Amino acid sequence: MALKLPDSGAEILADGRRMVPSAARNAGPILEVLQGLALKGRLLEIAAGSGLHAAVMAGPLGVEWQPTEVDPGNFGSIRAWAAEGGGRILPPVQLDATAPGWGAGIGLWDAVLLVNLLHLIPRTAARVVLAEAAQALAPGGTLCLYGPFLREGRATSEGDAAFDRSLRAQDPAIGYKDLDWVLGLLAEAGLAARVVEMPANNLMLLARRGSWENPPRAGNPG
Ligand SMILES: C[S@@+](CC[C@H](N)C(=O)[O-])C[C@H]1O[C@@H](n2cnc3c(N)ncnc32)[C@H](O)[C@@H]1O
Repeated sequence: MALKLPDSGAEILADGRRMVPSAARNAGPILEVLQGLALKGRLLEIAAGSGLHAAVMAGPLGVEWQPTEVDPGNFGSIRAWAAEGGGRILPPVQLDATAPGWGAGIGLWDAVLLVNLLHLIPRTAARVVLAEAAQALAPGGTLCLYGPFLREGRATSEGDAAFDRSLRAQDPAIGYKDLDWVLGLLAEAGLAARVVEMPANNLMLLARRGSWENPPRAGNPG
């Protein structure tokens, strides 16, 4: 079932790029957090959507960026944004991040980025996404999860509560996930997480194997 989301009516530009207002708004703050990590190497993006984030961030971050998406209908926009954007953006690859097993077969990545998916899928699917993404991390790699979360079971604003209700009305299995529940899954996957407050009540969860004080070095999976 196609979900009705605030950005469902995104504008399509003449060259095929889909202009998604929420992605345009959060790209700058997300980029700022990722720049603080001094990422190197290769980044795997899950649920790339329009492809706008790759175009804005790949150049400034200096990473090779692999967009993936479950819906090949997004590939035209991802390619069009990649042609506009700076940096090395690889052609999009189809990936259902909720399908068990992909993490072992997709290679190892210095960063895995997931923006605004967990609230749109059931808890069982979110559990798979996080476990598989953890497996796809290279030694010292960082999982970067951005989105809206419940805190101690509650939404942090009336707008968030209304959006969460609208999601659950469309499918009772989906909706905002609780921060502590997600942190628990990351811990189960062997990842230590940091929580960064982002604009509009969103959070960025940054998760690595080992502790943040002593991240494992390349060649030492720990
Ligand atoms: C709200 S959009 C976010 C897109 C993009 N990350 C952004 O922030 O602009 C959610 C995206 O998740 C994708 N998606 C939904 N289910 C997925 C799955 N099982 N695996 C991978 N992507 C999925 C949708 O096709 C859609 O592009």
